[in-house]
Amino acid sequence: MRIGVLTGGGDCPGLNAVIRAVVRKGVKEYGYEFVGFRDGWKGPLEGLTMELTLATTRGILPRGGTILGSSRTNPFKIENGVEKIKENLAKAGIDALIAIGGEDTLGVATKLDALGVKVIGVPKTIDNDLNNTDYTFGFDTSVNIAMEAIDRLHTTAESHHRALVVEVMGRHAGWIALHSGIAGGAACILIPEVKFSVDKVCEWVESRFKSGFAPIIVIAEGAIPQDGDMLTKDQTLDAFGHVKLSGIGEWLSQQIEAKTGKEARTSVLGHIQRGGTPSAFDRVLATRFGLHAITAVHEGDFGKMVALHGTTIARVPLASATEKLKTVPVEMYKESEIFFG
Ligand code: F6P
Repeated sequence: MRIGVLTGGGDCPGLNAVIRAVVRKGVKEYGYEFVGFRDGWKGPLEGLTMELTLATTRGILPRGGTILGSSRTNPFKIENGVEKIKENLAKAGIDALIAIGGEDTLGVATKLDALGVKVIGVPKTIDNDLNNTDYTFGFDTSVNIAMEAIDRLHTTAESHHRALVVEVMGRHAGWIALHSGIAGGAACILIPEVKFSVDKVCEWVESRFKSGFAPIIVIAEGAIPQDGDMLTKDQTLDAFGHVKLSGIGEWLSQQIEAKTGKEARTSVLGHIQRGGTPSAFDRVLATRFGLHAITAVHEGDFGKMVALHGTTIARVPLASATEKLKTVPVEMYKESEIFFG
């Protein structure tokens, strides 16, 4: 059997750990051959491949990013995209495909599965917003990066008696903001799922100052003020119709300064949250996903995604991953409010 592997969408720590596990078990236990497709769906679309062997996948476990490259290419937006993919898979002698990605990549995989391509999905995203899996790999690493940033910001905020706003990723789901904010002892956490009141944020800012500490406000890039809209960088859309978000942290700092008279600054963590080496949790989760994905291929159980349910790796219908977005339950967010202010 020849198996194709691709990584699509925003990169995240742990992608290489999946590739390594898939290849290691596939070669050693099943005697399979592998073909790496470059840059997400662009690879099978344009026939861009690279060798994936035991040798080429050694030493990559702790490396961030993806040795295969990634892109946000949407074959359904390209003329004859699906036909081209099918042709290139046939040319490369591919029997099955393992697609490692988030909402967009797995959305494409689901449609291709319905069109007869044999595919297994592996859930990745720092956003942790894929449905039907308790966690995606990459999330734990970014939460740790954001938490460390918050820890560092506490001391400089206190030295300067400033409010510091930390903008983290999360377009529609506030998982990174919630977890890093709780772990970092934020004075308030603002997520896309719950619209926020600027006046309430200012009250929390003032009460944190009164307690002798300086407030750190953690805000997800997609958070929305009660009487406003999501802030976007410009009007351009990517191939999956997403806008570029930017500016809510800076906007909030200005509001805090204007309403409280306290100095406020913003740090936007941006792609720092996606770069670098994966945490131990993500290395283990990504490795287990990889091992189970290749077993699913071996058993011919296509149209499935490997998923974490509790501590067990389950196999779920691929379509269920993108059926809806896994957002933060409001009750879970409310639990953290006791620490605000
Ligand atoms: O989906 C992952 C993610 O990191 C989001 O949190 C963020 O909004 C987006 O990707 C950023 O996209 P880009 O890779 O285009 O900067």
